[in-house]
Amino acid sequence: MRDVDRVAPPGTEERQLLDGIPPDRFPRHVAVIMDGNGRWAKRRGLPRVEGHRAGIEAVRSTVEAAARLEIPVLTLYAFSTENWRRPRWEVLTLMGLLKEYLHKELDSLVEHNIRFRPLGRLHELEGEIQQGLARAVEATAGNTGLLFQIALNYSGRAELTDLVREAVRLARTGQLHEETVDEAWISDHLSTAGTPDPDLLIRTSGELRVSNFLLWQIAYTELYMTPVLWPDFRARDLIRALADYASRQRRFGGVPEEAEEG
Ligand code: FPP
Repeated sequence: MRDVDRVAPPGTEERQLLDGIPPDRFPRHVAVIMDGNGRWAKRRGLPRVEGHRAGIEAVRSTVEAAARLEIPVLTLYAFSTENWRRPRWEVLTLMGLLKEYLHKELDSLVEHNIRFRPLGRLHELEGEIQQGLARAVEATAGNTGLLFQIALNYSGRAELTDLVREAVRLARTGQLHEETVDEAWISDHLSTAGTPDPDLLIRTSGELRVSNFLLWQIAYTELYMTPVLWPDFRARDLIRALADYASRQRRFGGVPEEAEEG
C-alpha cells in the first residue's frame, strides 16, 4: 500500500494531485538530472559547494518519497564522467558528500526496504568510495522495495562505449555471435540491466538538455523540466511531475490507444 499520508498530508494541494493519479498511471522508473545546486548557492551568496551540500537533503527527501509511493525504480544522476573537469575543490567536496551520504544513510535505506545500486565507471572512483558503495549494495541486497540507482562517473556515451568494447572482446574470443546482438541483448548488458526503461525523466533548474544521461534507455521516456533548483526539490515537486506524467499520452512511435481500431 502506498504510504501517501506521510508524503502528502490530507488537505494539501499535492495530496489532491496524488489522489487524482490512477494507480496504473504511476511510472515504473523515474530518472532525475539533479541540476541547479550552484545557482542555488549563488543566489544566497554562498560557495557552490554549499549548493551540493543542500542537495543532499533533496536526495534524501526524494528517495524516501519514491519509496513511500512505491515507485519501483529511481535513478539519480549524481556525477558525470564530465564532472571531473570542475574545480578540484568542488570534485573533492562532491566525493566527500558521497562518502558521508553512504555512511549516514545506509541504515535509513535498509529501514525503508530500499535496494541500492550504483551505475557508472565505479572502478575509477577512490577506494574508500568503492568500499562504501559495495557495503551499501551488500547491506541492501535482500530488500524488496524501491531500487535506488545512483549514477556516478557515469555518462550514456561512456556506458555504450564500454558495452561495444565488451562485445568486441566477447566476439574475438568466440563468446558472442552477430545474430545474438539485438536491442534486448543491448539492454540486458547495460548497467541498468533488469530495470524497465525510465518512464519519466525529471530535470531541475530549467535547463532543457539530457546531458549524456541514460541515452539508450530514454528513447521513449517522457521529459519533465522544472525551474525548481535541485536543493529546493521535495516530495511536492516529485508529485507534480508524477501528476503531469499521468496526464500524458504515450505512443512509443505508434498511435494513441483510443485511436486503435477493432
Ligand atoms: C548539478 O548542479 C549537480 C551536480 C553536478 C551534482 C549533483 C550532486 C548532488 C545533488 C549532491 C551529491 C549527491 C549525493 C547522493 C552524494 P550544478 O552544480 O551544475 O548547478 P548549476 O548548474 O546551478 O551550476
